[in-house]
Amino acid sequence: MELKGSNFTLRPWRKGDEESLAKHANNEKIADNLADRFPHPYTLKDAKEWIKHCTEEAQKKTNFTIEVGGEAAGGIEVKPDKEEKKYTGVLGYWLGEEHWGKGMISEAVNLVTNYAFTELGLERVEASVFEYNPASMRVLEKNGFEKEGVLRKRIFKNNNLVDEYMFAKIKGE
Ligand SMILES: CC(C)(COP(=O)(O)OP(=O)(O)OC[C@H]1O[C@@H](n2cnc3c(N)ncnc32)[C@H](O)[C@@H]1OP(=O)(O)O)[C@@H](O)C(=O)NCCC(=O)NCCS
Repeated sequence: MELKGSNFTLRPWRKGDEESLAKHANNEKIADNLADRFPHPYTLKDAKEWIKHCTEEAQKKTNFTIEVGGEAAGGIEVKPDKEEKKYTGVLGYWLGEEHWGKGMISEAVNLVTNYAFTELGLERVEASVFEYNPASMRVLEKNGFEKEGVLRKRIFKNNNLVDEYMFAKIKGE
């Protein structure tokens, strides 16, 4: 599966992506905004483990790298939830800092959200954002996501308790 953006391609992760992944992912400003399982520092060993996970068959439909100029320069995933939440996809994304501010993530979120509704059969796509990340909130709002609520002091990052903002988009709205 490949989704084409104006100046990037979304495609499954593959062997050979490890070095560029480790290069772009090794950035505290990225890790600070993601779940703790995204490590900092981000080593080649971390990259190898991630690529091993992503090359499992089930991942290839929902977990993509953002390829820019031939490099795996970021990641975007829409992970279908389970059981009674199985029509919800949980969206997450990051991009190497050298490419920030060029509109790539805004476009990638649009591509993946449409893909989730049309190809994966999902009815809701949601994303949670930490309170200190207005750029990500802006990306979601530009794509028609609504801020549904603020889960107070739900996140513990860098020794601080911060609020989690829940954004979601419903198919057809
Ligand atoms: C958040 C992130 C994905 C945004 O990537 P990006 O390539 O800069 O995104 P885009 O260029 O598509 O859009 C960013 C938007 O936020 C705006 N923005 C940037 N910094 C901002 C700030 N401090 N306050 C408000 N808006 C801001 C930009 O102006 C742009 O909006 P515009 O198109 O209306 O001008 C990127 O910074 C990143 O990878 N951060 C670390 C990981 C992360 O936060 N992931 C998301 C977790 S929820």
